[in-house]
Amino acid sequence: MSHSVGNSTRSLHADDALNVVSDVAPPMHLSTTFRYSDDPAALVPVADQTSSDLMSTTSHVYSRLSAPNPTRFETILSALLKGSALSYSSGLSALHAALTLLNPRRISIGDGYHGCHGVIALFTRLTGLQKLGLDCPAESLEAGDVILLETPVNPKGTAFDISAFAQKAHSRGAYLIVDSTFAPPGLQDPFQWGADLVMHSGSKYFGGHSDVLCGVLATQREDWHRQLFQDRVYIGSVMGSMEGWLGVRSLRTFEVRVQRQSENATRLVAWLHEALHTPSPAPDSDAAAVQAVLAAIYHASIQSVEGDWLQKQMPNGFGPVFSISTREERVARHLPSKLHFFQHATSLGGVETLIEWRTMSDAIVDRRLLRISVGLENWEDLRADLVQAFRELA
Ligand SMILES: Cc1ncc(COP(=O)(O)O)c(C=O)c1O
Repeated sequence: MSHSVGNSTRSLHADDALNVVSDVAPPMHLSTTFRYSDDPAALVPVADQTSSDLMSTTSHVYSRLSAPNPTRFETILSALLKGSALSYSSGLSALHAALTLLNPRRISIGDGYHGCHGVIALFTRLTGLQKLGLDCPAESLEAGDVILLETPVNPKGTAFDISAFAQKAHSRGAYLIVDSTFAPPGLQDPFQWGADLVMHSGSKYFGGHSDVLCGVLATQREDWHRQLFQDRVYIGSVMGSMEGWLGVRSLRTFEVRVQRQSENATRLVAWLHEALHTPSPAPDSDAAAVQAVLAAIYHASIQSVEGDWLQKQMPNGFGPVFSISTREERVARHLPSKLHFFQHATSLGGVETLIEWRTMSDAIVDRRLLRISVGLENWEDLRADLVQAFRELA
């Protein structure tokens, strides 16, 4: 086809070539091992196989190497991410694979998701990997080092300029890994702005239903793709076949889910932001209740930045996660229990709206902070739910 198809079409058809049966819905293959050819002439000993043979998407040997459902998931993700994608057992095992591939001596990283710092601590123990701040001078990086940029960043949902960090890394011969979990394809394309590797916790928007744990790495370098594939065989961090099947099912609706979640979040944030900044609200108004409870709201849609990079980097909308700070810690502790349509749980990216008193899972975050992952409920119902809870707590 001459024209480039859209993301929903990719989600539904990028794996067409792997439709080897007449089922419309993809079958689930749980086998860990796959029969070799019955034809002796077609048998190629492993020592005689090329890496392309080993990475075939249509023939499988053992599920620690590859299996039909995860391969199908990766085929669709490759089309969405515009790079060769590999899946992992979790987002953190994807980061572990990226650091095993690049084996940097230094890594520059900001606050972001605390688990990524845990993976870095493992490498520090094993290799002496040194951690630098995200704002470290470019001169402190050397060839082969890594900047790991999470954008939008956990837990606030505010964004960083990918191309500025790509330039900084590349000026020193270092690499830029972008953790784009909070802004999946359609919202942000890190390769367009210079990322060398793109990483996702696929447990979030790709899975999309809070029932799949997986991670994803994408690269536009074929040598890195091959090495990552080979490394994964020995680290053994493949995602399960069941998860691969669920992942494909989830990707079928990926674009509409993310678009709607992004719109819902941006509407809620705009409404909260306006209410918080309404001068002298009437005593019994919604804005007065918001102002009695909230101290701040954080999200890329209300972030003030210099220049136009943010609009260019996220032209179709912002991530569906934002954070609020309450005036008092007591209110942050009680708010989740007053809400009907927000479930109090960690994680994000699922179809159901979640709120988390973030101190429940992040040891160093401000205890007045709540993170909200907006789902597919009607946003006016989420707004009404917040208002009644704010009024009760005000
Ligand atoms: C930004 C970010 N990166 C990585 C991860 C780790 O992903 P996983 O939980 O799938 O290992 C998370 C998990 O919350 C995350 O929010």
